[in-house]
Amino acid sequence: MIYLDNAATTLVLPEILNSLKDLYSEYFANPNSVHKEGQKARHLIEKSRFSIAEYLGCKSDEIIFTSCATESNNLAIFGLAESYPDKNHIITTPIEHKSVLMPLRQLSKKGYKVDFVKVDKNGVVDLDHLKSLITTKTLLVCVIHGNNETGVLQNLKEIGKICKEKDVVFFTDTVQSFCKENIPIEYVDMFSVSGHKINAPKSIGILYKKENIKLQPIIFGGGQEKGLRSGTQSPPLVHSLYMAIDYWQKNKEDLVNHLNSLRYTFEKKIKENIPNLHIVGENVSRLPNITNVIFPKVDAQSLIIALDTQGIEVSSGSACSSGTPTPSHVLTAYGYSEKEALSSVRFSFGIFNTLEDIDIAVEKITDIYKDLTFFL
Ligand SMILES: Cc1ncc(COP(=O)(O)O)c(C=O)c1O
Repeated sequence: MIYLDNAATTLVLPEILNSLKDLYSEYFANPNSVHKEGQKARHLIEKSRFSIAEYLGCKSDEIIFTSCATESNNLAIFGLAESYPDKNHIITTPIEHKSVLMPLRQLSKKGYKVDFVKVDKNGVVDLDHLKSLITTKTLLVCVIHGNNETGVLQNLKEIGKICKEKDVVFFTDTVQSFCKENIPIEYVDMFSVSGHKINAPKSIGILYKKENIKLQPIIFGGGQEKGLRSGTQSPPLVHSLYMAIDYWQKNKEDLVNHLNSLRYTFEKKIKENIPNLHIVGENVSRLPNITNVIFPKVDAQSLIIALDTQGIEVSSGSACSSGTPTPSHVLTAYGYSEKEALSSVRFSFGIFNTLEDIDIAVEKITDIYKDLTFFL
């Protein structure tokens, strides 16, 4: 099996897997209990929070542990809206993940005005349009950093500067870029992270929130995480997230170089074999590990299923829950036709993939593509 779906989730680092059993037995206590075992568990959480904050260059109090990025995104959006009721305008992009778009849809049902900034054919946000949309009623600008379907990156510093000038909160979903790209934290007010995208286990995430930004909780209960996220924290999961971040930070250059070389080799070879294909956002700044390829005349679902039978696991951006695939909202926002969007496949590479995986995958993709288009 060759797994090229690392934007969906990643394999847990072996050193984390090996330590989980000990972590669960040693730090089993409720970190909110006052007794010794509870305090030991609390200490592990706070030590992890402190080390993560050191890596990010922020204060520990600015890190809120959540269950995943979907929760972080919901907390950022609803929590902010609740805190600043006098402002009812939000600006976002049409290429956000659903965990940002759906909370914003909810707010729009409650009377908020949500505007979408234009993106160009490469998926890059139009900064002049963004500036023109901001009004005195604008509370928040939400722009994803690295797109999960195409890998195309936005310029957080430039967007952050615009928001600072206009005194608007800037929130960015950094789920795909975290650890792979630098986050200019001084220009960003809030960002979200999901552990399982960086080789930590699932069900642990972060919302980074600058000290001066007010948030109301969306989950009420015991008042954990300074009242912002009630619910018993998991010391082993929090520590695993710290371990993953530590691993990425210590090996960042090598890991990113490796991912870049996998993507570069894949794109070079696939273009040699199938000359008429199209790589989305090929000439703009992209994440090192995601490539989105439009295969002319081919339905992506057929290609993905055929690849699966050959042991190559990939995804497309189209939603297929109803049986009839709907084209990706991201690619249609870029200006691709529905037909083109339905012909697109996302290949996302991970730190455990090898150049040999790439050679095998390219060979199989080429064969299958030629079979599927032979009669056309
Ligand atoms: C860009 C982006 N944001 C948010 C999420 C949600 O992450 P999770 O499912 O871990 O909550 C994902 C997951 O694929 C994502 O790619």
